[in-house]
Amino acid sequence: MLKFEENMIKDEDFEAITRVVSFRGVPMSKYNVENWERMDYFQARHDDVVIATYPKAGTTWVSEIMDMIYAGGDLEKCQRDAIYNRVPYMEIRVPGMPSGVDQLEVLASPRLIKTHVPIHLMPESFWEKNCKVIYVARNAKDVAVSYFFFHNMVKALPDPGPWDKFVTDYMNGAVSYGSWFDHVKGWWERRNQYQILYLFYEDLKEDPKREIKKILHFLKRELSEEVLEKIVHHTSFQIMSKNTMANYKTIPNELLNQTNTAFMRKGEAGDWKNHFTVAQNEMFDTHYQKEMLGTSLHFRTEI
Ligand code: A3P
Repeated sequence: MLKFEENMIKDEDFEAITRVVSFRGVPMSKYNVENWERMDYFQARHDDVVIATYPKAGTTWVSEIMDMIYAGGDLEKCQRDAIYNRVPYMEIRVPGMPSGVDQLEVLASPRLIKTHVPIHLMPESFWEKNCKVIYVARNAKDVAVSYFFFHNMVKALPDPGPWDKFVTDYMNGAVSYGSWFDHVKGWWERRNQYQILYLFYEDLKEDPKREIKKILHFLKRELSEEVLEKIVHHTSFQIMSKNTMANYKTIPNELLNQTNTAFMRKGEAGDWKNHFTVAQNEMFDTHYQKEMLGTSLHFRTEI
């Protein structure tokens, strides 16, 4: 279990966490990749369900939805711990604390597992055990904005510099977890090879009930209409923003600084329009067309 406290991480450790290195072709936190054998040999269980995303695509939202489904809509049960302990983040390593893998090894089944890895970095045993994965994708521009704000909140991420620089780095895949394009395409291309439910943030925004029903169908679970409504309500942006077990307010400001911007920042589709200049938008669109040429994967940048 992770329990964050003030001054728990030494400055020299931050150095290693913040440094991004190229790992199997993907920029990743040096600290997270140092012990990757633990990931390579991770032992999946047949009833594990993985929530996989590129950062800022709605991971926490879908994690909360999943935990509520598993709890049969029991709100009190979902208040048992912070979201990062209910749905551990598999590849994370924090100095002086159990790693994501450590956490998962002692977690009772059925486990819900969060990851941001591109599909080629997934531990093989998930496929051997035919585990289910819910992949959530969000349009590239809203992710860029959300990721920029997040970089400014999290001490363990490199300084993003000004927005103009960040948007170029992000477009070129020079950020932690690499190219958004490779990530969303990689998971999309193999969605029929494994048990992967590919969801979109914009669809969840448009009609959460419809999307939660898709999840239930995928999991072969049933819930009453009443419980379904309850889950929709309690995982709405408004309610989740105030839920300390879901809004990361249990993490001290020195690690995740929510003074100026909250983790639950806006929760909208189309906020990118408030941040991209006309020139940035044109540059991004040109690059986007090249990267997404030939794929059947389509995104909505507003709803
Ligand atoms: P914004 O920064 O655009 O507000 P992740 O959990 O993958 O880190 O994603 C975080 C993003 O999802 C943030 O986006 C956050 O506000 C948004 N989000 C979290 N919970 C949400 C909810 N219940 N409804 C809509 N958006 C949500």
